[in-house]
Amino acid sequence: MANLFRRREDRRRQDGPTEDAVREALRDVRDPEIGRDIVSLNMVRGIEIDGGRVRVGVALTTAGCPLKHRITKDVTDRLKMVEGVSEVDVDFGVMTDADRQNLMNSLSGGEREIASAFRDESKTRIVAVVSGKGGVGKSTVAVNLAAALQRAGKTVQILDADVHGASVPVMLGALQKPNVIDGVIFPIESPTGLKFISMGNFVGEGQAIIWRAPIVNKALAQLMRDVYWGEPDFVIVDMPPGTGDVALTVAQMIPKAEALVVTTPQADAARVAVKAGKMAVQAHLKLDGVVENMSYAECPECGHEMRIFGGDGGERVAAELGSRILGRIPILPDTTGEPGRCLFEEGSSPARAFDEIAASISSMKVRKRIQVL
Ligand SMILES: Nc1ncnc2c1ncn2[C@@H]1O[C@H](COP(=O)(O)OP(=O)(O)O)[C@@H](O)[C@H]1O
Ligand SMILES: [Mg+2]
Repeated sequence: MANLFRRREDRRRQDGPTEDAVREALRDVRDPEIGRDIVSLNMVRGIEIDGGRVRVGVALTTAGCPLKHRITKDVTDRLKMVEGVSEVDVDFGVMTDADRQNLMNSLSGGEREIASAFRDESKTRIVAVVSGKGGVGKSTVAVNLAAALQRAGKTVQILDADVHGASVPVMLGALQKPNVIDGVIFPIESPTGLKFISMGNFVGEGQAIIWRAPIVNKALAQLMRDVYWGEPDFVIVDMPPGTGDVALTVAQMIPKAEALVVTTPQADAARVAVKAGKMAVQAHLKLDGVVENMSYAECPECGHEMRIFGGDGGERVAAELGSRILGRIPILPDTTGEPGRCLFEEGSSPARAFDEIAASISSMKVRKRIQVL
């Protein structure tokens, strides 16, 4: 009787998955913050298989990791697709200090001046969105360009470098403080899946920052060094308006950066946009092109394009900079800069304009440049 029972037990075991199959499947589960699979991050600490029942031990970087639920769901969903798995349990533990420090060191590349994404040798392209003055839609362009690149299958992160006018956290609806582990800062993931980092997330909504330029520069340099950027295809940098200090810092720290100039049709915006573009060129950034925002309004009755602001700002800026217009974005009355009301809906005419801008930028040849500064 006992033997018979054991044999049935054995058979049931054989029906379950192999440990290798489970481990392979777990390679498809990524740590949401780090963006790499939990097996290669050494977070999987034990797999127990009992027939169709699988228990997985996962070591988190910190005990209070807010991402437990998501990891549990991702592990469960993925393992249920493995043949023979009927039930999944996830047990959480915490890494030892030494393990965590090793992991963070491997992510940050140890002691360095700047994160690898910003270095010349990395594949990541850095696109700085610049304008001569505020209010022309620089942040709107930055987040919508990022969204369009993501739609096209690119990996993208946003760096909100507009310290005094930080608006990306509000626009993307993610005001929480970033997770910081052993000196490594993790980008924040917005509800739409766009990842970004902004000084706005450190100081809290409604607080004004009254830093002098050297402090702002230091804070930015720190974000470019201490944030875990990984190596996405693009980092879109929302620059402060004008031709100031920060632009020089960015140009100096990231010689491979490219610039996208935003203007509206009006002459005053265009005049200062030309200055911002010239300054980018002087700092040896490559000019990707010009975006004319708030170009026209579409008549709701007949679809006719009304050039409300008159002016030919985009053309003028492109001509004076020897560059070209990559896109014209219409005025949309319900673009309020509030969460969910600044990202244009996929398929809408402004979103399609951004898809084209994203396609033009993606297809540009990346220039290997020599640092002159
Ligand atoms: N194409 C557009 N149609 C309507 N409103 C827009 C458009 N682009 C920007 N806006 C609005 O104009 C304001 C300024 O835009 P923003 O992107 O914050 O400019 P900047 O970053 O240059 O200061 C925001 O309220 C934004 O929602
Ligand atoms: Mg802005």
